[in-house]
Amino acid sequence: MAHSKRVFLALAASLAFSTSAMSMDMIGNCELTGVKGSIPIATPAKAGQLTVQVSLPAPIWWNGDTPEAIKDGMEYCMAAEIAWRGGYDKLEVVNSDEQFGRLCRVISLTERRGYKQVEILLKNSHVLSDRGLSKIFRIIEQDEPSHWAPYDEWLDANGGRRERWWERSVDSYIHSELLFLKLPMLFLAPLARRARFADEEDGRAEPGAMIVAAAH
Ligand SMILES: [Fe+2]
Repeated sequence: MAHSKRVFLALAASLAFSTSAMSMDMIGNCELTGVKGSIPIATPAKAGQLTVQVSLPAPIWWNGDTPEAIKDGMEYCMAAEIAWRGGYDKLEVVNSDEQFGRLCRVISLTERRGYKQVEILLKNSHVLSDRGLSKIFRIIEQDEPSHWAPYDEWLDANGGRRERWWERSVDSYIHSELLFLKLPMLFLAPLARRARFADEEDGRAEPGAMIVAAAH
């Protein structure tokens, strides 16, 4: 009896070990949880891998100062999971400031536009007649420059260019479109409101139930 118990324990231990070894799919130091290839990537930048462009160093998000040294980090492991579900074992990190510089210019432009709007609002008699509202906008006016300054400073410190005339034009166009077209359209012809979030039922129903529901 003792003998068979030992055999059973040994079997259970080896089974537990092999199960944990089987479930340890890894890219770098990241343990992967999804199913490989479950969400294929149609047109990868480089065939057979996921390529991610990042501005380094970015510790915690990408642990390591060079692309080759990075094996983990919060965003690295997210990218690893995306690569895996896309069907790849390989994740390549490319160090580039180009896209980050672009992002900084967009943020800076948007924030400075917002500041101009606040200045306009603070001259408006309706806003000024409401003590609470004008107080809120005065606080925003004080706070706002700190929203673009770090991005301008990063661009200056890293040789990134500031925005050009055409980028300012695009920003003005997007803002005008929102202000004079999209918002009035929403106001004048309100869309039917959704009663639920679009993804509320995602993954809740059994596949069979979904087919039955689709057939009705
Ligand atoms: Fe802001």
